Formats: sequence, C-alpha cells, structure tokens
Amino acid sequence: MSSDTCNKQQHWEQVYQQKQPEQVSWYQNQPGWSLQLIKQHASPDTSLIDVGSGATGLIGDLLALGYHQLTVLDISDAALKVNQQRLGNQASLVQWLVADITQAQLPAQAYDLWHDRAVFHFLTEKPDREAYVKNLKHSLKTGGYLLISCFSEQGPEKCSGLPVVRYNAQSLAAEFGEAFVLKQQHNELHTTPFGTSQAFLYLLLQKV
Ligand SMILES: C[S@@+](CC[C@H](N)C(=O)[O-])C[C@H]1O[C@@H](n2cnc3c(N)ncnc32)[C@H](O)[C@@H]1O
Repeated sequence: MSSDTCNKQQHWEQVYQQKQPEQVSWYQNQPGWSLQLIKQHASPDTSLIDVGSGATGLIGDLLALGYHQLTVLDISDAALKVNQQRLGNQASLVQWLVADITQAQLPAQAYDLWHDRAVFHFLTEKPDREAYVKNLKHSLKTGGYLLISCFSEQGPEKCSGLPVVRYNAQSLAAEFGEAFVLKQQHNELHTTPFGTSQAFLYLLLQKV
C-alpha cells in the first residue's frame, strides 16, 4: 500500500471511528437523486457497485427494493462495519471491499451501474483521477451507467477537512472522456446535519 493511501485510510478510519453516521456533513436522510436515478436505469437484477460508500443508508434502501448484486467499496473498514452492523443478517447479501479505488483490483466488465457520491472530488491529483477512470472503464459493462455526484462550482472547497475539486457538468463529464455519453444532470442543494447548504452536481453517463 502506498504511503498516500495509508494517510488517506487513516483519515477516513478516524472519521468513522469518531463520528456517528448522522454527524457527518454528507449525511442524507434520503439519498434522493441516487435512488431515483438507480431505479430508473438499473433493474434489481443488475449488478451495482457503490464506490466510497461510507456509512450511507443507500445500501439498505437498495436491498429493500430487491437489488441483490451489490458491491460496496470503501477505503475505510470502519465505515463498512457501521453499514454491516446496521444491515444485520442482510449484510451477507452484499460483497464488501476495503480498498482505495485508485488501486483496487476490480473484475472486468462486472457492473451495470457504478455509483459514486462525494468520492471522486477528493482526487485532486491527475494520476489518481486517471487511475480511477481506468478502473471504471475496466469494470463497468459496455452500455452500463456511471452515476456520479461531486460538489459543483458553488460547493465548498473542502470536505471532511480535505481539499476537493469542484466541477460543472462539462468539466466533470470531460474526466471520463469519449467512452461516456452524458444522459442527465441535476443540481442539489444538500442540507447538512448542521443546517448549512452544500451545492452538489449529479451526472448520469452511459458507457458506449
Ligand atoms: C464524503 S464521504 C461520502 C460517503 C457516501 N458516498 C455518502 O454519500 O454518504 C467519502 C467516502 O469516500 C471514501 N473514500 C475516500 N477516498 C477514497 C478512495 N480513494 N477509495 C475508496 N474510498 C474512498 C471515504 O472513506 C468516505 O466513506
């Protein structure tokens, strides 16, 4: 494991060891856009990966809707444990991966939909973004969907104390190149548990 990955992992382990899921700024009562777009573009029999899943309630929501081919990846083992405990027996229905997405070894052409909310924007170095995109292209099926959400240009400059890259629809879509076609874009003003607002951008792209 590289020293950079080690530092990142320590940061996120600490976050999830010290805070309850509903005490972090990215906590959502309802993962509204994510659920809506997943339901529209991936049936319960398709294969989904949630990259940088954290302790989100999205996985429980998807299991309740009958999705049964779910892979959940996060750099923090502590984050995944929070979700596993919340899900109880149902946790065994999910594949759990502790990995840095810039270094993860994922199977080829495995997923129909790749979901990422608030992870890609932490990749401030170009080689990390390139490694992410390489993994995405390798493991997303042709015709599959990338559902990605980052801070928009009006969003904060930092998240969890770490610098982020803010995007508009054009600059975010450009990160994935010509292999992806932009299908939908949505803006969301997320209300944090502390009552502040954060501007998010959601893009749905299809791998052609
Ligand atoms: C802001 S949180 C978002 C969590 C979740 N997607 C949500 O919307 O609630 C960012 C998540 O990405 C994970 N993460 C950060 N860098 C990562 C990386 N390089 N590889 C995998 N996971 C990463 C963190 O552990 C954290 O759970």
